[in-house]
Amino acid sequence: MPEPQTNTPWWREAVVYQVYIRSFRDGDGDGNGDIAGLRSRLAYLADLGVDAIWVNPWYPSPMADGGYDVADFRDIAPMFGTLAEAEALIAEAHDVGLRVLLDIVPNHTSDQHPWFRAALAAGPGSRDRDRYIFRPGTGADGAAPPNDWRSVFGGEAWTRVIEPDGSPGEWYLHLFAPEQPDLNWDDPRTRREFEDILRFWFDRGADGFRIDVAHSLIKQEDLPDLGDRFGLLPSIDHPHWDRDEVHDVYKGWRRIADGYDPPRVFVAEAWLDDPERMARYVRSDELHTTFNFVFLIAPWRADAIRTAVARSLAEQNAVGAPVVWVLSNHDVARHVSRFARDQAELAGFSLDDIMDRPADLELGLRRARAAALLMLALPGSVYLYQGEELGLPEVEDLPPEHLTDPTWRRSGNTVRGRDGCRVPLPWSGDAPPFGFSTNDDATPWLPQPAGWHERTVEVLDGDPDSILTLYRAALHLRRELPALGDGELAWLDVGGGVLAFTRAPGFACVVNFGSSAVELPVDGRVLLGSDPRVGEGLLAPHAALWLHTTG
Ligand code: GLC
Repeated sequence: MPEPQTNTPWWREAVVYQVYIRSFRDGDGDGNGDIAGLRSRLAYLADLGVDAIWVNPWYPSPMADGGYDVADFRDIAPMFGTLAEAEALIAEAHDVGLRVLLDIVPNHTSDQHPWFRAALAAGPGSRDRDRYIFRPGTGADGAAPPNDWRSVFGGEAWTRVIEPDGSPGEWYLHLFAPEQPDLNWDDPRTRREFEDILRFWFDRGADGFRIDVAHSLIKQEDLPDLGDRFGLLPSIDHPHWDRDEVHDVYKGWRRIADGYDPPRVFVAEAWLDDPERMARYVRSDELHTTFNFVFLIAPWRADAIRTAVARSLAEQNAVGAPVVWVLSNHDVARHVSRFARDQAELAGFSLDDIMDRPADLELGLRRARAAALLMLALPGSVYLYQGEELGLPEVEDLPPEHLTDPTWRRSGNTVRGRDGCRVPLPWSGDAPPFGFSTNDDATPWLPQPAGWHERTVEVLDGDPDSILTLYRAALHLRRELPALGDGELAWLDVGGGVLAFTRAPGFACVVNFGSSAVELPVDGRVLLGSDPRVGEGLLAPHAALWLHTTG
């Protein structure tokens, strides 16, 4: 790895590129992205100017939930490659200066995991069942579930099993799909197993992990009913989200990560809307960072964004942690499409929240360009979701027969779910698969819109005004400018739908959220602008500027 230029730990200011591997690039011609495809594009990522990649789950999996149903945490799915290829990828990424974060899924396994198969076979009361959360049913003959918990994907969070003797038996908990039984984290064997999985990948050079639903592991012992407290964003003292005991798990993980040279790192996926509760995950002896979903779910309005940014900075900085800014990922509608909607109120973050509202995609793209400059100028670390550098919109009209998200099935085909942000990337050419595959005749696992010939890497690369050129310029400047990355910001009180802040030394970022041009509230030389039509001393509507200031 190249030597760091400052004493700041890399993860405090890293820009991490999220690779949804099945949709990044297909290196063996079967229409599914894979490790070979990712290896063939490491140079693209290094040139883009990111510091690290995070690879979504690539483990053997029946793919009931896009690979978040893991059957073996210590191997690679044949669809994606081999363990030897994974090791080669990590080494090659390091050679071009990219660190590699993997995805660990500790809340549940696949129902095809050997532990769950053994639990089913062993029957009630066995040690094997204790690895999961099995309970007798309620009501006559135990035919009703143990409590009223609901699956995030719709329906009950419990499924009843047939016992080895053929009789209807116990129920097991699954906060997600039935193919994803929840593990019992009160069992020391679960704790030992995951610590061992961490070491397995750290020993192979992985630089860290993104922790899937990091706030869900511990359940209140008596599994009380939820009543009206169902939802993705938890209340305080919720029986299965954000229990205090989860922090003991992460203190143990931190000790393991710190035992490596260089120390390995973690980023938590914890959907909490309370920055104070989020900050608890990143106390100095716990995880390093946690995604900032408060920023992600804020509507694109000066007041809402300023509140989200200011609160997040205050809470995370109070425990000495950097904020991790993120606009999109594989679970939410792409932000070009969210920002294409009226932002008067919370626009919602899933396709199903927004699709009925009128969309202006050109406006969405302008706002997305401004948002990129805003986000990359904020203090802390940033995660980019593959394709946002191409300005890809959500694919809102995937034919129903292609939808794979468990939400679609479990909602009785009413909630479309997350496939629309997972469509394979367009790299080059005029027709699908747009260079996504080494095989021009391959059928990508999700169909790409015909109009994406305008959004390929090949087309945008050659255009000085494209969003790809903007991202690349911003990422390279971010590395060069001492003011950016870790540190602090100072707000300028300008009002009127404009946000402005400075960072020392000599930097200002100004964002115009309004629909008419405004005078620049701060003097300086323009370093970069999201709208190439910006006039002297003026900032275009829906645009952002980076300035070199002398103050
Ligand atoms: C996380 C993942 C999501 C997955 C869920 C269950 O939220 O990001 O894709 O469906 O966990 O593992």
